[in-house]
Amino acid sequence: MRVTVQQLRDWKRQGQRFAVLTCYEYSIAKLLDAAGIPVLLVGDSMGSVVLGFENTLPVKLEDMIRHAAAVVRGAKQALVVADMPFMTFQTSAEDAMRAAARLLQETGAQAVKLEGGTTVAPTVRRLVDAGIPVMGHIGLTPQSVHQMGYKVQGKTVQVATRLLADAAALEDAGVFSIVLEGVPAPLAGRITQSVSVPTIGIGAGPLCDAQVQVIHDILGLFTDFIPKHARRYADLGQIIQEAARQYAADVTGGEFPGAKESFTMDERVLHELDAGEPRLEVPEHAPAREPEFGGYAPQPS
Ligand code: KIV
Repeated sequence: MRVTVQQLRDWKRQGQRFAVLTCYEYSIAKLLDAAGIPVLLVGDSMGSVVLGFENTLPVKLEDMIRHAAAVVRGAKQALVVADMPFMTFQTSAEDAMRAAARLLQETGAQAVKLEGGTTVAPTVRRLVDAGIPVMGHIGLTPQSVHQMGYKVQGKTVQVATRLLADAAALEDAGVFSIVLEGVPAPLAGRITQSVSVPTIGIGAGPLCDAQVQVIHDILGLFTDFIPKHARRYADLGQIIQEAARQYAADVTGGEFPGAKESFTMDERVLHELDAGEPRLEVPEHAPAREPEFGGYAPQPS
């Protein structure tokens, strides 16, 4: 049975915290689903961590559709939420309806997420009235990077008051949950107490109802950077580099592939093929070779 948005609301009522992870592809979706992660967010952070853009602004609806569909194919239990990219919902409620419809119809995702508070509340209401579950997202909203930078939001009375009002407006508009990103922990706690839907924190401290993290951060896929709000649960970056180095060494040293990784063929076919020629035996490992040129030298990372 797939997790539902109603279940998340029940978990809030019951005081049950839950974990959310971003996910952008089929194989990882299968793993996270099997690990029992109840909500997978196909975030537009994909623009930075998968596509290598400087920020999330270049992400297109088509990118989200392609990746959200792959995640849905891999996740049988988790609720899959697809992010609405920059300028797919800010222009008008109609544009938002069309974009959200494509996300649900073409990917099979069960919900959408969009950034913004009071100003996007009327659009959220239209989506919810049309039967589309919406996750809100306030605080540090990366699609506004050129206005706010990547700075914690809500440290002044004015901004903190606005964020409380944003959360209330989103709740009134019918969101099933609200991401609080880059919000001081005490304010996130106040917002969490003030709404009946679960808050999902990232850089918002322990008082939220749930937590979301970018999968690349918790798996250590970037060896040179970890955001302050993240905790590394594995060093996959190191493991991948080491495996790649070992593989390259095995190939250049003739250790891979060996007989175990090779395919055989019928002896009679071989005999006919060779027809008097000296027989070419496949050795256990590739024979040693003198390189004629320097070749590619791996650079230290
Ligand atoms: O795009 C994203 O991955 C997000 C999460 C970090 C909340 O918005």
